[in-house]
Order: sequence, then structure tokens, then C-alpha cells
Amino acid sequence: MRKLNIAIIGLGNIGAYLFKYLKDNKKILTEKNNCIPIIKYISAKNKNKKRNIKIKKNQWLNNYLDATKKKDVDLIIELIGGAEGPAKKLVFNALKNKKHVVTANKALIAKYGDQLSKIAENNKVNLEFEASVCGGVPIIRLLKEGLIANKISKIYGIFNGTSNFILSSMDTQNKNFDEVLLNAKKLGYAESNPTNDLNGNDVSSKLKILSSLSFSSFLNNNVFVEGIKDIDKIDINNANKLGYKIKLLGFAELINNKFYQRVHPTLIKKNSYVASINGVLNAVIINGIPVGQSIIQGEGAGPAATTSALVSDISSILRGNIKFPFSLSVKERKNLKFHSIDDRFFSAYLRFEVIDKPGVLSNITSIFSKNKVSIKRLVQNPDKNKKSSSIIIITHKSKDKSLKKILKSVAKRNYIKIKPKLIRIDES
Ligand SMILES: NC(=O)c1ccc[n+]([C@@H]2O[C@H](COP(=O)([O-])OP(=O)(O)OC[C@H]3O[C@@H](n4cnc5c(N)ncnc54)[C@H](OP(=O)(O)O)[C@@H]3O)[C@@H](O)[C@H]2O)c1
Repeated sequence: MRKLNIAIIGLGNIGAYLFKYLKDNKKILTEKNNCIPIIKYISAKNKNKKRNIKIKKNQWLNNYLDATKKKDVDLIIELIGGAEGPAKKLVFNALKNKKHVVTANKALIAKYGDQLSKIAENNKVNLEFEASVCGGVPIIRLLKEGLIANKISKIYGIFNGTSNFILSSMDTQNKNFDEVLLNAKKLGYAESNPTNDLNGNDVSSKLKILSSLSFSSFLNNNVFVEGIKDIDKIDINNANKLGYKIKLLGFAELINNKFYQRVHPTLIKKNSYVASINGVLNAVIINGIPVGQSIIQGEGAGPAATTSALVSDISSILRGNIKFPFSLSVKERKNLKFHSIDDRFFSAYLRFEVIDKPGVLSNITSIFSKNKVSIKRLVQNPDKNKKSSSIIIITHKSKDKSLKKILKSVAKRNYIKIKPKLIRIDES
């Protein structure tokens, strides 16, 4: 029977779990793939660290880069992380030396995926990254295989479990952002430094990868990105009263022949499918022709779900399928232009906390009309004790740049108490 020699580099949360899984499931994987997966080598930063896995002495590589040079390595699994440094060195060298690569590293693929896929294609080896997007949700394989027939017009959803956990806990427990973040850290749902989860960058990396696969294009950095740091429980309560939930969504879409990529907190109708996805779950919705709409959801992160995705990639290599990393040859991928969302139309929710005095409301509404944005709904909640008022406005569809102009203009007025809010509404 054929054999595939594997080196696992990185034995942290994911690497250690995968190591154990591959050992425990060697027989069934061999039977299903008609090829024996053999963990030949492993490496991590600190050889002396205590780990909950049994590693044989002759499996340890003193230098992780040796995996790229050894003749008895066919596949390198990179589980170090980060777009630069050792992960980048490892993956570039592995592909140059004609080793297959499996990685869970979205930062690396979103930044260097085009260069890496070119090397993989030239050297006729696989570069697989199912685990880099939405953990256990097999969205990459779905786009590359299950939905291969389709012309995709939109792919969107919840791609970050940490931010979804925070927003849905703020909603169900009526708690503040900081309280919920602390709890998320305690439960292990947020890293000690959760910046990339909260500022939208994590979603942006995943969106670039999905967008590229959906539209047959090279990776493109033109993404509008806004995180969830400014969302507070007042916005969540207001959204509820207006019939919406707030979710951090990523969108890649084709509208009137223009491509857009955007990541931002979004008001979404309470009775929509996406609004019901709570906690650390991820969900992806794809609109395509001829399939119509497809939806897939599941655990977005964690060692178990990520291992599920990694094993799917490993199995593909065990079976001997050499594929283009981004579904089609580098020669066939397009250099698409992605547009700024400035000229895209949105309905929006705006909230202004103001000093309650005569003339404020009319000043605000005059700024709206000056910018040709019409108001669909206006709610004013005065607080007599604080001599302040909260003004909530829902607009009709308007150009994004006009909405941003209004926000900037009102923010400068002396009656404004805190930074005004703008949250875009999704009508789909
Ligand atoms: N955690 C998740 O839920 C999740 C989900 C999806 C994707 N991912 C991705 O999976 C990858 C790994 O994540 P993780 O959570 O397992 O990270 P982690 O727990 O921080 O593990 C990183 C591993 O890399 C090793 N390492 C660091 N520098 C190294 C070097 N120079 N040479 C060799 N090994 C080195 C570390 O060694 P030591 O053990 O000796 O320190 C550690 O074993 C990342 O790309 C991440 O984005 C993670």
C-alpha cells in the first residue's frame, strides 16, 4: 500500500490535537484513503516543553526547516501561525522543495496565497488551507468542489466566533462589551490579545480568501473593515426594539458588475437565518447560479473543529489529488477590481447622544437633507435627569459616503455628548 510521510510543525492547541487524532485514527484514514499516513517528524519551538502527547525521540527535528529538506517527508503541516517569520519561511521553502503543504494559517494565505499557489502549481504539489477559514465549516472544499458549477454573486456570513460570542452574549445577557469580553477570555473563546478578532482583521483575512475562490480572482486587499469595539448594549437594545440583531458580518458581492468586499457590524432582521446564529458558531451563505442559495454552519474554531478541516485536506493529499490551490490555474485567475463602498447604497442606523435643547433635532435633520439622505424612521428618547436625549435615525438607502459625511458633520457640533454611531443595515 502507498504511504505518505508527514511532518507536523507546531504543536500548540491545534498541532497537539491533530498529532493525537492522526495516531488514533491511522487505520480508518488508511482504509478510507487507500494510503497510510505516517507521522515521520514533528517540531515546535521549545523541545523541553511538557506536552500531553507521546513523541518518539527520533521524531523530533531540532530545526523545523529540516522538514523541507528531508527526502522522507512528503507533506508538511504548518501549525505555527502568523503571516511572517517561521511560518512564512517554512511554507515557502516546503513548496519550493516540492513538499505538499497543509496549513490553518489564514494570515499567511490572505497575504502570500497568490505567490504560494504559483510555486505549488509549478512544482505540482498541493497547498491546502481548509482550516484557515471558519474552522470546522468545510467552506473551501464546498466552493472548490461541491459548488464548482456555480457563478457566485455573493458570499457572506459570520466568520469570527469570538466576536459573535461577544455580540450574542451582550444581547442575551444584557451586559456591556467589557464584561462579556472578560467572560469570553475566561471561557477560552477569546485570546489574551483579541485585537484581530475585535477589529475585523481576522474576518477580513478570511473574506479575502473566500472572495478569491468565489470570483476566480487573485487575493485583493481592497476591503472595507470596521470592528465591533464601538458597539454597546444601548445599540443592541435599540436594534431589538427596531426588529434587528447586530452581527459582525463579512460580505463579498457582485452588484451591477461591481465587486465589493466589506466587514462591519450589521443590523440584520431578527427573523433572518444569520440573526439566529449565536455563540461561537460560524455560518456562511452563498448565492450562486444555478444552485440558488446554500448555507453552511458549524464550529468556527478550537482544536476539534480545526482538526476536522485539517484531516479533510490531509485526506485529499493521501488520495493523490493534485489540485490548484485556488481552484483554477494561476494563469486563469483574474485581476479583478474591487470597488470602495463609498458609492454603494445602504440603509443605516445612526445614533446621536445630544444635549437636550431646542434646535438640535432640526439641525440634525437639516444635515441629513443637505446630504440628500432621507429619513425612514426617527426615535427620540429624552432623559430629563441628564438633560440629554438619544436620537435614533433609520435612513432610506443612501450612498455610503453621504452617511459618513453626516456622521462627521454632526460629530463636530457642540451639542454632541459622545461619538455618534453608524451601523449599516442588511436587507437581504
Ligand atoms: N486555535 C484555534 O482555534 C485555531 C483555529 C483555526 C486556525 N488556527 C490556526 O492554527 C495555527 C496554530 O494555532 P494554535 O492555536 O495551535 O497556536 P499555538 O497554540 O500558539 O501554537 C503554535 C505552535 O507553534 C510553535 N512554534 C512557534 N514558533 C516556532 C518555530 N520558530 N519553530 C517551530 N515551531 C514554532 C509553538 O511551539 P511551542 O509549543 O514550543 O511554544 C507552538 O507549538 C495558527 O495559524 C492559527 O491561526 C487556530
